[in-house]
Amino acid sequence: MPDIPRAFVMGHPIAHSRSPMLHGYWLKHYGIAGRYEALDVTPEGLAAFFATYRDEGWVGGNVTVPHKVAVIPFLDRIDEAATAMGAVNTIWWEGDELVGGNTDAFGFLANLDELAPDWDATARKAVIIGAGGAARAAVYGLRSRGLSVALCNRTLERALDLAGLFAGAAGHGMDRLPDLMAEADLLVNTTSLGMAGKPPLEIDLAALKPGAIVCDIVYVPLETPLLKAARLQGHRTVDGLGMLLHQAVEGFRHWFARTPEVTRELRSLLEDDIRAETGNA
Ligand code: ATR
Repeated sequence: MPDIPRAFVMGHPIAHSRSPMLHGYWLKHYGIAGRYEALDVTPEGLAAFFATYRDEGWVGGNVTVPHKVAVIPFLDRIDEAATAMGAVNTIWWEGDELVGGNTDAFGFLANLDELAPDWDATARKAVIIGAGGAARAAVYGLRSRGLSVALCNRTLERALDLAGLFAGAAGHGMDRLPDLMAEADLLVNTTSLGMAGKPPLEIDLAALKPGAIVCDIVYVPLETPLLKAARLQGHRTVDGLGMLLHQAVEGFRHWFARTPEVTRELRSLLEDDIRAETGNA
């Protein structure tokens, strides 16, 4: 057994993950002798990874695309959030049990709480664009705060399927977006559109309810075309970086026995790294 705690982020590909920068910052900041490593694990390599998990002495780690669902059979138990999400993003030990959790919804809400304080004091209706894994985390989180959720997706059937999993959520095609936006207190993009290298999300915000908050889970660039358009139209905006930062807190706490803080300094470190990639001001 190695003598310092080692945690990982596993995915395929994994080279662009910012999790090592994030956890590396906390390890250094708190003076913890630990390691956090990026592991490129292929789908075919997943069983071999878990076969040597105990011998390698991993204290746990993060799981990203494409393994968030595929890791579940290798774990002893998954928590309530991971069960609701049908996906795991964080693994840790509880006694002799290997447990999988999902902190994406927590990260999504904590980001809104930080960047738009009191956003949920009056918000009643949310519109989510997309119906993939990120949309599932957003709808789970927003339902936990009591908002009704309209899911709009290019493929209507996926929106209906996802909405069917949650009371208080309804699925729609993109054609309903203008009507739904007129009533929405919160608009959330959960698709990858607007990410550097992808086309922007082409929607007309003219129909959006005045005072609505616009949130994007994309964080490269920090200000997506959607967020820029919303800002120019006078809406409060929330970028996606804080979701990454806040979803990481729980894992670090389990692995290294310290609850880390999401600080201005940490955010700046990641912002600089993102700007270096996008060349954005
Ligand atoms: P994730 O799990 O990361 O959320 P995903 O499951 O691939 O990723 O979901 C991506 C979402 O972006 C989906 O809602 C997808 O719409 P479809 O269900 O119709 O595929 C949406 N999306 C991706 N590219 C899109 C595009 N060019 N136009 C509209 N929606 C798009």
